[in-house]
Amino acid sequence: MTDLQTAIQHIRDHNDFIVGLLKEFASIPSISTLSEHEADMRTCADWVAQRLEKSGFENIQILETARHPSVYADWLHAPGKPTVLLYGHFDVQPVDPIDEWNSDPFTPEQRGENLYARGASDMKGQVLASLMALAALHHHGGGIPVNIKVLIEGEEEIGSPNLGTLMEAHKELLACDVALNPDAGIISPTQPSVTYGLRGLAYFELWVHGAESDLHSGIYGGAVHNPAQVLADLVSGMHDADGRITLPGYYDKVRTLPDEEREAIAKLPLSEAEFMRNAANPPALFGEKGYSFLEHTGARPTLEVNGLYSGFIGEGAKTVLPAKAMAKISMRLVPYQDPELVEAQLRQYLEENAPNTVTWELKLIGHGAPAVLVDRHTKPVQSISTALETTFGVEPVFKLEGGSIPVVGLMQEILGVQSVITGFGLPDDGLHGPNEKIHLPTFFRGIETLMHFFVLMGE
Ligand code: BES
Ligand code: ZN
Repeated sequence: MTDLQTAIQHIRDHNDFIVGLLKEFASIPSISTLSEHEADMRTCADWVAQRLEKSGFENIQILETARHPSVYADWLHAPGKPTVLLYGHFDVQPVDPIDEWNSDPFTPEQRGENLYARGASDMKGQVLASLMALAALHHHGGGIPVNIKVLIEGEEEIGSPNLGTLMEAHKELLACDVALNPDAGIISPTQPSVTYGLRGLAYFELWVHGAESDLHSGIYGGAVHNPAQVLADLVSGMHDADGRITLPGYYDKVRTLPDEEREAIAKLPLSEAEFMRNAANPPALFGEKGYSFLEHTGARPTLEVNGLYSGFIGEGAKTVLPAKAMAKISMRLVPYQDPELVEAQLRQYLEENAPNTVTWELKLIGHGAPAVLVDRHTKPVQSISTALETTFGVEPVFKLEGGSIPVVGLMQEILGVQSVITGFGLPDDGLHGPNEKIHLPTFFRGIETLMHFFVLMGE
């Protein structure tokens, strides 16, 4: 018999201990994209493995991949009950611009109700919340009411390039009824939400090459086409005046939002002013004509420049005509686009628009991820919805998120299972930016929500 109240009380009595654990976890600089942090990735995987052991898990394994390892564990002592595969990632994004942090990103600091650290919200906090919920049920709640498998990877923030191979190789080990993915968030501390869709991603580098080396801009400027200029022209041509993407056929497969979803989005309790505050106060919003800001981020695809590189960017002036220019360009995809399709469209756009004064090269970075939609009418989704309502005292709204989580598509494809996408991050947590934080009261409410979820799943 599960004694949920005792387990909840145990968490409430040990808040400081849990924050201490989160500080420990978040102090490991597990930046997956930077090779100088390879040893930290190992340290972090070991930390997770040790935490799983202390939480009562069995069969703990470090699963190797071509790059960073994943950690697996299970607890399979609820015969006749469903098996839930808990997914998480222990890797984090780089910390630049470091000067904009008010405290060291890997020296977690509590200020008011927030804990500041890289990964606090995305997603070490969420991983720890899940493990604490399970540990409390296991040690103080009379047992975990379902079978649990845990897979915590180290490559999410670089697009999970090796996770598909790992999942194929461990299909039996990972077999389950449903996945729980707490890598998203809610609308506000007082308004829970359930994520029923995520956008996908396709990421590229576009290189434009002119002369074989940099030139004097006085001697050659005017006669040799400047690759930075060409790149800027190409990039600016990728949107029209209405904010629509001009790649050939780009909108052909895009899912049309059903009227009832548009109506639900219009009713979401998030004002434009609040959205702008969460978005660090841009002077004004932008977006494809005919859609609201919540549709722009949840239901419509994008094309973004993530970085630009060319010529001289040091102090002062250098009269140079650069030999090359590069843009990092990514697209957030919606159902039923996919990364291969938009790559072909981008190539066609470049073939049709790049002048013969330069050569260009398009490189696909990572594997990309398709968009996902979750059926809201299943028991797991209803269980998370009920659990959120119980702990927050407010009925959750259903929301499409703009971010991407590659594993959700991989789980559908390889394991044939759906994911419940949840999490307790807030829109102003500063994911991937400076001063990332987690709101501790929401984090603790998240632990209780997950305990309710597991109990409901066992009924
Ligand atoms: N946790 C985020 C994704 C997310 C953010 C989901 C906000 C819902 C709401 C995740 O860690 C992330 O940042 N994913 C990357 C994936 C990419 C590297 C393939 C992303 O969305 O940029
Ligand atoms: Zn992230």
